[in-house]
Order: sequence, then C-alpha cells, then structure tokens
Amino acid sequence: VAVTIGIDVGGTKIAAGAVDDEGRVLTRVQKDSPAKERGAIIDTIVACATELRAVHPEAVAVGVGAAGFVAADRNTMASGTNLDWTGVRIGDEVAARAGLPVVVENDANAAGWAEARFGGGRGRSNVLVVTLGTGVGGAVVIDGRLVRGAAGFAAEIGHINVVPGGRPCGCGQRGCLERYASGTALGHNGWELARFQPAYASRIIELSGGDPDRISGKAVTAAAREGDRAALECYADLGHWLGVGIADLCAVLDPEVVVLTGGLTEAGPILLEPVTASFDAHLTARSRRPTIGVVISESGQDAGVIGAADLARCG
Ligand code: BGC
Ligand code: NA
Ligand code: ZN
Repeated sequence: VAVTIGIDVGGTKIAAGAVDDEGRVLTRVQKDSPAKERGAIIDTIVACATELRAVHPEAVAVGVGAAGFVAADRNTMASGTNLDWTGVRIGDEVAARAGLPVVVENDANAAGWAEARFGGGRGRSNVLVVTLGTGVGGAVVIDGRLVRGAAGFAAEIGHINVVPGGRPCGCGQRGCLERYASGTALGHNGWELARFQPAYASRIIELSGGDPDRISGKAVTAAAREGDRAALECYADLGHWLGVGIADLCAVLDPEVVVLTGGLTEAGPILLEPVTASFDAHLTARSRRPTIGVVISESGQDAGVIGAADLARCG
C-alpha cells in the first residue's frame, strides 16, 4: 500500500490528510488558510505535510490541490484569484522544505478527480464536478481523463461570464459565475438584502451579531435552515445562476452526471432544489437527451484531499 499526502488549499481552510491507494483518509489535519498572507500559505502547507509525515513516515509523495490558475508545469501558481500567491512556485518550495516529491494541481481538479475515481462519478467516464466554497471551481473528466487544456487552465468554470458587466471578480473580469454562486456570493446576497430591506433580512442580520457588514454565507445558511424567507431568497438567487451556468457547461460537455462538492453543499436540499429547478429550465434538448443528474457529493469535505493525494501517486 502506497501512502501519499494530499493537501487541499482553499480560500478559507487548508485541509490535509495521509491517504491510502484506495482513497481512504488515514489521518487528517486542518488549519485556517492565511489566504492574504503570501509567505504564510507555503509555511502552512509545509506544516501540514510535516505533521502528517511524523505519523506516516512511509508517505512517498505530496499532492497539493491549489485554488487558482495552476500552470501546465503543475508547479507554478499562474494567477491566485482568491489567494495571494500569484507567481509562487508551489511545487519547488514545498518539495525543498517537506523533503518529498510534490505534484501541484488545481484544487477543484483534484476534488473532481477524487469524485470521478472514488465518489459520485465512480464508474462513469464523463463527469462535470463543481466545487462551491469561497470561490467556484470545476473539474472536467472526459473519457476518463482530467481535461487540463493548453495552459493548464481548463475547467475554470467559476470564471464563465453569466452576467454581462456584473459584479467585479478577483480574476479581473466582471459577472463571473463565482460572484453569484459561491459561499462568498451567498453572503453578498444576504448583505444586499440587509442593506435595502433590513426588516425582511432581520434574522440574517441577527445571526451575524447584528452587523450587516459581517454577513457571511454561513449566516445565510443558518437562517435558511430555520426556513427564513429572506435567506431562502438568497439561495433561490444563487441556485438560479448556478443552474444557468451548469446548463451551459452541459451543452458543451454532455456529461453523464454533475457532482456538486465543497462547503456550500452542506446545505443539502436547500441548495440542490433551486439549482435543479434552474438547471432543468435552462438545459438545451432536455427532453431529447438522457437525464443528466445533478447530485451532491457523498465524500463530504474530503474529496480535495483524496484527489490531491491520488494525483501525487499516479501523476
Ligand atoms: C479559482 C479556481 C478554484 C476555485 C475554487 C476560483 O476562484 O479561480 O482556481 O478552483 O476558485 O477554489
Ligand atoms: Na479546475
Ligand atoms: Zn472571475
């Protein structure tokens, strides 16, 4: 059994684990993501690798799933979007300090790889995986292979233009899907309602300690779980845009299944219902094609870790 270390680096947390070759997580480590502190991101990755290696000295390699545009060299962060690490040679830096070979992959590609191999896409060759967290990420598996594209930037589905001239995005464009369909976007929807309809959004404000400027996706989700109408409207809005985006991607890719993963999927049916309704309403040739199911991942929050570890093993 070859054990490898997988490290999933997102905008909010860094999750890591020692993983065996059947995709089982043997030991876990989690730390807050120092997303806006350049040097600290690498320090935290190295700390995770070192802690896991102390428990699993048999680990042979490290896979890093990194949020942002990872270059085709599978080493350099070409554009960090939600984290301050553009230009960092992640692979070289981590390898030098952790003392193991390192493969770097886009975080969503890593999670998607795990879903396609061990999770909700298992046994299927054409799978679209969508990660919903601080940002929106994607992985495209076609004929059983992860699509990387010419520059390594394929499947950056968070940055398809859904709203012309819309909300500004960390990538430099406007109107990107992730500005309407991420955990950050959910918080923004809540903030906007609180700003313009404070009475209607009062429960969301309450759950944010009374301060509208502190409204996060988490507070909106907590209110939605209580059945709060304003919070459910925030989800309806998010579901609408996500459904539109996924329908467009399916027109291009024709996958067998769409797997949703990432922190936002913990909301379960609160998320899935508006997404499915919008997807069904917008998918082209819907009545003339096999059903494309939209499902929530069953691997919880582990997919990114498992996928990064597996990619370090199989290249
Ligand atoms: C980044 C992607 C990443 C996604 C999820 C997006 O903002 O551009 O590279 O996969 O967030 O972390
Ligand atoms: Na990706
Ligand atoms: Zn963007």
